[in-house]
Amino acid sequence: MPEPVPFTDIQMDEAIVDRVAEVLHSGRYVKGPVVERFEDRFAAACGVDHAVAVDSGTAAILLALKGAGIGAGDEVFVPGHTFFATVSPVLSVGATPVFVDVDPETYGMDVAALSEALDAASDPAAILPVHLYGCMADVRRIRELAAEHDAAVIEDACQAHFATRDGFTAGTAGTAGAFSFYPTKNMTVAGDGGMLVTDDPDVARRARRHRNHGRDADGRHRVLGLNHRMSEVHAAVGLEQLDRIDDWNEGRATAARRYSARLADLDRVETPTEPPGAEHVYHLYVIRVPAADRDPLREHLGDAGIETGIHYPTPAYDHDPVVERLGERSLPATESVCRRIVSLPIHPRITDEEVDRVCTAVERYFEGAAA
Ligand SMILES: Cc1ncc(COP(=O)(O)O)c(C=O)c1O
Repeated sequence: MPEPVPFTDIQMDEAIVDRVAEVLHSGRYVKGPVVERFEDRFAAACGVDHAVAVDSGTAAILLALKGAGIGAGDEVFVPGHTFFATVSPVLSVGATPVFVDVDPETYGMDVAALSEALDAASDPAAILPVHLYGCMADVRRIRELAAEHDAAVIEDACQAHFATRDGFTAGTAGTAGAFSFYPTKNMTVAGDGGMLVTDDPDVARRARRHRNHGRDADGRHRVLGLNHRMSEVHAAVGLEQLDRIDDWNEGRATAARRYSARLADLDRVETPTEPPGAEHVYHLYVIRVPAADRDPLREHLGDAGIETGIHYPTPAYDHDPVVERLGERSLPATESVCRRIVSLPIHPRITDEEVDRVCTAVERYFEGAAA
């Protein structure tokens, strides 16, 4: 059996373990100083006024929507191609997701399609772009469209910690941004966790209230809220990871550049596009191949010990909670992408040899397929 090439590798070290031990010995596990420090440091790193730590990226999106006052009957514009957790908070607040096709090159919301959908809408409340795979959507154009339609922009930056485009840092271009610290993300809290960032003090105040049983500092429960707090233990891991994220993102980008250079000559492989003015942080390295080759290629790579994934095989609008509520729909670029994408192994510590092995295996597959 060949040496495996793992899909991802989670970065932990002794300094992180020591930080966690300190918190464990402190006896203070929630609503403490470590969460506050993590919030302050994350806000400063993003260049925003407020960061609110929560228990998942999904909760960050949910509280951003609630914080921006999005609720029943509001229309929220989301991309057709994304993880379902972009859409479930929209449905949960009673708003209606309006699905917009994606740009098949960058996987972000297609801004021409978004413009048309906004013109056709009666009263758009929010646009929820997703910076999928670590590449920011065209937030400059999305902000302009949002301003024309008086809509909020809530960014799903769950896969794009510290990506940039046209001078904007992921999560900071609109009303609020949401990050995930799920274990495989570019940075993690060693469990579930998330962060909402915003410059708007009212959005931050409402999000803090919603994450803590709808309660204000005076102890009164002012709205119906659940518990979405982050623990001190998770925040301790997050603080340490924040110190290392720039190096890790650079490690991912270096591996991505090597992949793209090696795969450039293969006619049937399309490598990721970095739009001008964008710094991609390669949460995932996703290629497109002919739909008929996708499964056999994955099998061929699997036989060579190379793990791959598909993010995601099903359009976000094709899942039951959407179909039951809104019926069926079809977006051509989203559906083509879902049939053709393959995610190759990437993480900060992947070696040149491992990238080369993956590329050689992809080349061999297509040589064999051509024969
Ligand atoms: C694009 C996107 N949105 C939302 C989420 C939800 O984040 P979490 O799993 O932390 O709830 C994720 C991650 O899983 C994601 O990749």
